Amino acid sequence: MKDLFFRENVLEILDYLEEGLHIIDKNGIIVYYNKFAQGIDGIEREKVIGRHLLEVYPSLTEETSTLLTVIRTGESMHKKEQTFLNYKGEKITTINTSIPITSKGKILGALEISKDITTVRQMSEKIVDLQNKLYNNKKEKNTIDRAKESAQFTLLDIVGENKEMIRLKSLALKAAESDASVLISGDTGTGKELFVHSIHNASSRRYKPFITQNCAALPGNLLEGILFGTIKGGFTGAEDRPGLFELAHGGTLFLDEINSMPLELQSKLLRVLQDGTIRRVGATNTIKVNVRIIAATNISPEEAVEKRQIRRDLYYRLNVVSFEIPPLKDRKDDIPVLTSYFINKFNEKLGKKVKGISKGVLNIFNNYEWDGNVRELEHLIEGIMSISDGEIIDIEDLPYKFRQHKKNHELHESSLSEILEETERNLIKEALKQTDHNITKTAELLKIPRQTLQYRLSKLGL
Ligand SMILES: Nc1ncnc2c1ncn2[C@@H]1O[C@H](COP(=O)(O)OP(=O)(O)OP(=O)(O)O)[C@@H](O)[C@H]1O
Ligand SMILES: [Mg+2]
Repeated sequence: MKDLFFRENVLEILDYLEEGLHIIDKNGIIVYYNKFAQGIDGIEREKVIGRHLLEVYPSLTEETSTLLTVIRTGESMHKKEQTFLNYKGEKITTINTSIPITSKGKILGALEISKDITTVRQMSEKIVDLQNKLYNNKKEKNTIDRAKESAQFTLLDIVGENKEMIRLKSLALKAAESDASVLISGDTGTGKELFVHSIHNASSRRYKPFITQNCAALPGNLLEGILFGTIKGGFTGAEDRPGLFELAHGGTLFLDEINSMPLELQSKLLRVLQDGTIRRVGATNTIKVNVRIIAATNISPEEAVEKRQIRRDLYYRLNVVSFEIPPLKDRKDDIPVLTSYFINKFNEKLGKKVKGISKGVLNIFNNYEWDGNVRELEHLIEGIMSISDGEIIDIEDLPYKFRQHKKNHELHESSLSEILEETERNLIKEALKQTDHNITKTAELLKIPRQTLQYRLSKLGL
């Protein structure tokens, strides 16, 4: 009975999983195969169940198959990458978590959940190939053009008169003179990327490659191959391919969202920083590289270390020069300059003649939270300028939530005075009742001059 329930209900639910699911018995025979797995492999379920795993996946072997390895070792494997050819000859890459199914200490079979990352892998490899081509082509171009294409911004693009921002800009110039690693932190939209570009462009590496990799964009094992490169090996299905460290040789490698990099990979990164050599995935020899590392996080690095998102040893190594860019709400003195900078920018871009913002708008800007920081301000101004034609941006031009902000203020003010008026009215009415509407006596009771009472009476319409 229980068995029936399990088969009819639970197994059906597994068909709705967005991940492939395989179950094999201890002899390697496939006993369960969900719908999503069919999609990955391009085979119908009926043709798979009851057959040996290697018969269905001939490009795998006892050694390379994660499921068979689990049967052999009895130990589960987490997030292992596996590449195989499916029946159509397509190269598929999955990330597998495989666990043994045991009873009374005996292995009965194994279960595996696989995420198809084929497209992610293809895309990331394509990016490396393109980077590679880009730099090889660019060798023929003149060096200044090359630098422009890689890191666009310079320190001149960082607008800001706030004291701390000026200190950070001069720190960027100093950092550019050395090869020391740099760690930049700040909330989203505060301008981290601007600083990274500026440091590269102010350094002697400016005519050399500038390469960015977002560490949150790829799963750990792919990221490793992308950063360090791979060598050809049937085992992983990898090709001979240089990694970004090799491509960035002589230049700067920007590792964005470093706190998303798996800790294991962080320790490999630490080794590169310490001895200046890398090893391609699967290779035995090492390659010397000369790359300057700039890393960024959008939470405070100390917090990232506390939360075990950044290894402490790597943090000390990276944090040789550190930039903490303050959020916009903590540098309100920059709001006017940034606003007029963006107005000029979009006047040019959109062919408009906006002169500035009204006092009311500035007031609202100064009281606003700016969770999206400078990026939010930039988008706001672009949005307003693309639909309005006035010379001065006024409160009416602002999106609803900004005007709402203002209205709320007004509402609170008026309701407070309303409450006060109501209280006053009640007090006076009560006193009038007690004195039988004798004005002099009422004024005495309320301890106010008679004239004042008369004025209040007419004001309150009593
Ligand atoms: N001080 C500044 N002067 C001029 N433009 C700025 C400034 N700070 C940020 N910007 C602009 O704001 C936008 C966001 O900046 P940037 O991409 O550097 O932010 P970020 O800190 O890297 O954000 P995220 O964490 O979301 O990646 C960009 O268009 C950038 O040009
Ligand atoms: Mg950024």
